[in-house]
Amino acid sequence: PVYRATTTAPVNIAVIKYWGKRDVTLNLPTNSSLSVTLSQRSLRTLTTASCSANYPTADTLSLNGKPQDIQSSKRTLACLSNLRALRQAIEDADSSLSKLSALPLRIVSENNFPTAAGLASSAAGFAALVRAVANLYQLPQSPRDLSRIARQGSGSACRSLMGGYVAWRTGELADGSDSLAEEVAPASHWPEMRALVLVVSAEKKDVPSTEGMQTTVETSSLFATRAQAVVPERMTAIEEAIQNRDFPRFAEITMRDSNTFHATCLDSWPPIFYMNDVSRAAVRLVHDINRAVGRTVCAYTFDAGPNAVIYYEEKDSALVAGTVKAILGADTEGWDGPFNESVANVT
Ligand code: DP6
Repeated sequence: PVYRATTTAPVNIAVIKYWGKRDVTLNLPTNSSLSVTLSQRSLRTLTTASCSANYPTADTLSLNGKPQDIQSSKRTLACLSNLRALRQAIEDADSSLSKLSALPLRIVSENNFPTAAGLASSAAGFAALVRAVANLYQLPQSPRDLSRIARQGSGSACRSLMGGYVAWRTGELADGSDSLAEEVAPASHWPEMRALVLVVSAEKKDVPSTEGMQTTVETSSLFATRAQAVVPERMTAIEEAIQNRDFPRFAEITMRDSNTFHATCLDSWPPIFYMNDVSRAAVRLVHDINRAVGRTVCAYTFDAGPNAVIYYEEKDSALVAGTVKAILGADTEGWDGPFNESVANVT
């Protein structure tokens, strides 16, 4: 027989950014981070995991129809060996269970958005992979437990195993067992929240995040201050803002942390640039809108790429999304193809 499980995992967009590793092998971060999970209608990975004695002996993985070399991806191997070990443990405890852990795996994954465009594709990708195999193996582990495994695939992936507002706690233990994701608030806590994703470029990013953050850790003089002094205060403040549904406070912290993160990139040696002229036009526009309205109605954030994510509340949707589309969508140099946007609810 062929055993099979299919699942989807959403993209998450950090408002307090993860940037820097204290342990590269276990993928442990230098600072905690916090993200908002986006609706799967617009941005998600769909993954099917199956296993069968009839498959060729090696595990296989395909992404958007292209076979991937699992053997050279230590991260994928780490996730799969962790999941197999958990399955093995329940098989050892219950001899009536099929020995799925001994069978080759076939994993087929598809994104409905450009891969490696700074849209956190690795986050949804590894979260879906871990969840699909965990479902296939019928593992009893909670999302929190599984986040520890997904983290080893890609740090940001640990936050995509949960919906709503999710913190990844840096943890203190050397083995990484306390470095995991935890829900700060469900999406239903703040149903008015919206995210507008502006795809400035769907091309692969210049410097992959894993490499970029290593350069920053090793060379930026601003980095340590951000990780040790700035982020811990911001984590507390933004969690409070989320609990109180205080949009202006949430927005200011989000924008400041995006700016601080990109400042440490610019301060790296050689410097790393993720934002481009269109990104900067989006930053100016958000500040202009907020100034014109006389209150903070929108916030921007940028990951390791030029694409902007604009947060706002539903009541300001016509104002924010309307203005952003009208101004940035018209005649803006640097857009890659037609204006490409996607409004995502927070789920
Ligand atoms: C800027 O999770 O892609 O999006 O752990 O090396 O796979 P690895 O890095 P990754 O980095 C994401 C960086 C970020 C910020 C964030 O999502 O918190």
